[in-house]
Amino acid sequence: MTEHKIVVSLADRSYPVIVGSGVSNQLQALIPKTAKRAAIVTQQKIPLKVNLEIESTTITIGDGEQHKNLQTIESISQQFAKFGLTRSDVVIGVGGGMVTDVAGFAAASWHRGTAVIHLPTTLVGMVDAAIGGKTGVNLDQGKNLVGAFWQPTAVICDVESLKTLPERETRCGLGEVAKYHFLSGDDLLAIELPERIARCVQIKAEIVSADEREQGGRAVLNYGHTLAHALERSSSFALAHGEAVAIGMIFAAHLARFMNRIDDDRLAYHYKVIRDTYRLGVELPKTIKRSDLVGLMRLDKKAIDGLTFVLDGKNGIEIVSGVEEKYIDQAFNAMQVI
Ligand code: GLY
Repeated sequence: MTEHKIVVSLADRSYPVIVGSGVSNQLQALIPKTAKRAAIVTQQKIPLKVNLEIESTTITIGDGEQHKNLQTIESISQQFAKFGLTRSDVVIGVGGGMVTDVAGFAAASWHRGTAVIHLPTTLVGMVDAAIGGKTGVNLDQGKNLVGAFWQPTAVICDVESLKTLPERETRCGLGEVAKYHFLSGDDLLAIELPERIARCVQIKAEIVSADEREQGGRAVLNYGHTLAHALERSSSFALAHGEAVAIGMIFAAHLARFMNRIDDDRLAYHYKVIRDTYRLGVELPKTIKRSDLVGLMRLDKKAIDGLTFVLDGKNGIEIVSGVEEKYIDQAFNAMQVI
């Protein structure tokens, strides 16, 4: 099967993302030459086992968003200390987006920065979370509020691990793939899976290379995410990230329509792509209240100037601050949220 190599270009911190079947066997070759030890951060049910020629330890973290917190970072760091991990060694994150976010942040803070290689095992991880160097954990007050930009040394997307991915996880990944559909205009479902992942990685790599620290253009990667993060939290994570992103993009399209940024056809196109083509849910759970969502959206990291959204418009998808609450009300009314 064909193998794809995409480079995230960041001058001396550039790194390869390898996509293909069986490519996890390239791990040893991608480990920094200085590393004598590897700390593998993973979870119990992860289907991918890695083989290394250097000394290694496996650190298993809890399953579920409730474990994506500072206590987990402390526990991982203590295990790094017991193992004798040094700054010239390597951390390896093997799992979904939660694992690579946590492993990446542990590596970023261990001895003020230790190399990390990610082996994402979910579609969300491969097309988004493991790429681009955003790492971090949640606080009770919000998602990913504590973290660091810490680029990996390499990312290995072995599509073999997707064969056992539960259907819901695949749906979540499709939420992020649909996002790239709007960012690039590409019909991503028309291409085979490894090529599709590689194309999504390519789109993300170009955006990250142009704006690593999200001072501008990178924010478009958060399309649908302002409402999505609030939805995940107000549903106590019953709604998974990709499912919430799909609903969040529909909400953003309604918002853009009421703000006269897009026309009816473009709004209808969002439903066509997200609901009809990608077959993702587009309705908010009836139990969720708009007042809770608005409160949570105000805490969004991007909310530098009032309520901030990433919205479609004549110039394409861009960040829009200070969105008036009347438009938010209109968008919630259109989606029948109480
Ligand atoms: N997932 C959004 C970003 O990496 O910027």
